[in-house]
Amino acid sequence: MKLPELKIANFTASVPIIQGGMAIRISIGALAGAVAAAGAIGVIGASGMEDEELANEIKIAREKAKGRGVIGINIMFAARNFWGVVKAAAREKIDIIFTGAGFSRDIFKFGQDNNITIVPIVSSARLAKTSERCGAAAIVVEGTEAGGHLGTDRPIRDILPEVVEAVKLPVVAAGGITTGADIVDMLKLGASGVQIATRFVLSEECNAAMPYKKRYQTATQNDIVKISSPVGLPGRALKTAFVEKILKQEAPKPVGCDFCLKNCSLEYCIIQALIRSLHGDIENGVVFSGANVWKIKDRSIKPAAKIIEELVKEAQEVS
Ligand SMILES: Cc1cc2nc3c(=O)[nH]c(=O)nc-3n(C[C@H](O)[C@H](O)[C@H](O)COP(=O)(O)O)c2cc1C
Repeated sequence: MKLPELKIANFTASVPIIQGGMAIRISIGALAGAVAAAGAIGVIGASGMEDEELANEIKIAREKAKGRGVIGINIMFAARNFWGVVKAAAREKIDIIFTGAGFSRDIFKFGQDNNITIVPIVSSARLAKTSERCGAAAIVVEGTEAGGHLGTDRPIRDILPEVVEAVKLPVVAAGGITTGADIVDMLKLGASGVQIATRFVLSEECNAAMPYKKRYQTATQNDIVKISSPVGLPGRALKTAFVEKILKQEAPKPVGCDFCLKNCSLEYCIIQALIRSLHGDIENGVVFSGANVWKIKDRSIKPAAKIIEELVKEAQEVS
């Protein structure tokens, strides 16, 4: 199948792929810019970033994209600095703000007042409808196969048709998509595009340290677990020593907490655990991953543009 363009508000991506935002600093300007340069939508994971840092990453992404593609940021509503990040992104005239892990009606009003395109990430037809009424430009619907914080235990193939039926907006499917054939499946179920994150961790431009990427390369189906995150949502991660402690409810309590989340159970510090793994100390950290990482056939590390080229080619080979 020849893949169609993805249109969201006034933006058109020649490749209907959104690279899913990945906190904490897993997807930054270098990856988002490379994805945009390849004609898709590159997204900076902005949760946990300071305003100036985000502004700088947006500039890096723009330089790298050379005026091509579309660039967005992703911010979790659960972050205490949600509005700081949103306003910093607006000052930089970001193309699209993606927001998940909680739901804000006010963000849509902000988008209208500041001429910024808002795309929520939801996991139900009910929230998709509410988003449409509030002024969303498109909907990303995420199934349980996704990495990071999860809003549902239902597979994407079950939820997607319900969301497509419920709204008139473009619907983008996310969770567990690893091949061009998966993309074609989603389009046949009514999606206008797909959001992919896990596969982009194995890109040269992804900011994670090599041990993080190596953990992805060796992951088997048995390594994928669901943990409870202090954010108040389940999260999908790969087994590490620290994750085993979380599963046994033996993870150490936070030390030096800066109250970065609006609501935190204080069971352990998810942010510090994500930062440790980002820097390569994976056994003492949390490595978020989608459920289908083990299905990626070629887990070598390559440029993001090559990953996109391969996905498009694989899709073209499916009738
Ligand atoms: C390492 C990692 C970090 C993530 N961080 C975020 C995040 O900060 N905000 C968010 O909305 N989604 C986050 N996600 C979810 C992705 O953006 C995406 O929607 C989902 O993982 C898609 O499924 P896939 O990874 O199987 O392709 C993360 C996923 C991964 C793998």
